[in-house]
Amino acid sequence: MRQADRVSDEYIARIEDAAKFLAERLDSTPKILVIAGSGLGGFVRSVTVEKTISYSDVPHFGASTVAGHAGVLVQGAVNNTPVFVMNGRRHLYEGISPQQSTLLLRALLAAFPVQVVIISNAAGGLNPKFQVGDLMLISDHINWMFTNPLIGKNAQEWGPRFPDASELYSQELRQKAKRVGLEVGVLLREGVYLGGLGPSYETRAEVHMLRAIHGADAVGMSTVPETLVANHMGRRVLGISFISNLLTVPAVTTHEEVMENAGLVEEKFTKLLTALIPHLT
Ligand code: HPA
Repeated sequence: MRQADRVSDEYIARIEDAAKFLAERLDSTPKILVIAGSGLGGFVRSVTVEKTISYSDVPHFGASTVAGHAGVLVQGAVNNTPVFVMNGRRHLYEGISPQQSTLLLRALLAAFPVQVVIISNAAGGLNPKFQVGDLMLISDHINWMFTNPLIGKNAQEWGPRFPDASELYSQELRQKAKRVGLEVGVLLREGVYLGGLGPSYETRAEVHMLRAIHGADAVGMSTVPETLVANHMGRRVLGISFISNLLTVPAVTTHEEVMENAGLVEEKFTKLLTALIPHLT
C-alpha cells in the first residue's frame, strides 16, 4: 500500500491545512452540508450563494476531472437555512485514494460544526421495480470498493479506531425525508446502495450477482467513502440516489445517458431538498 493510500501524519497535516484555509474564508453557521453528485449540480441554482471556493484553490485537494462535476464549494442558504454545498466530488476511478477523494469533506467537518451531510449520487437501478428518474433514499450500503478511507493511522480527534456501521444512513433523517416527500408529492424509493470502483459500468454477470447475492437495489461509484468519513466524525448522513439508468434491462449504459437523465430529477430533487432542509437541524 502506498503512503498516499492511508491516513498518515502527513495526511492529517494536509487536512489541518485545508481546514484552516476553509475556516478563514467561510462562516461557521451552516449545520448542513450537501454533496451534489453527477448532474445534480442544478440544485445549486436554487441556493442563495454567499461565497464560493473552487476545488482547485483548496490546499492539497485538486479539481474534479470528470465532465458534469463542477468542482465548487458553495456557502449559502436554502429556504433561509444556511448550508454548504459541494458541487461535484472526486472519485476513486480518477486514480486517487479514498483518503484523497474525501480530503475536502474531512477538512470541512474538521473546521465546522456541520451536523448533517446529505450525499447524493447517480446510480444504476438493480431493483426491477425502479424506473429511470426515481429517487432512492439509501437505507444502507455495501462497500464493493474493497478499500476504506479510514485505513492507516487513526486520528483520535476525528473519531474512533473501529467505528460502528450499523446505521450509516440515519433512520430518523430518512423518516423526515419520507414525510416531506409525501407533503411535496415527490415519490421516494428506499434501498441498498452498492458502491463499486468503476469507471467501467457493470457486466451482465456482475449485475446478476449483485442483485442475487448482495440484494443491492442500486449501484454507483461514489458515496461509500464519504459516508464512512462522515460517520467516523460523528455526523449523520442522508443518502439519496437518483436512478439514472436501469441495469435490469439489456441495454447499453453511457455517461451521456446518465447525465441526460439527471435533467429528469433536478426539479424534484430541488423541490425535496428545499422543503426538507429547514427540518433537518
Ligand atoms: N453503474 C455504476 N455507476 C453508475 C451507474 C451504473 O449503472 N449509473 C450511474 N452511476
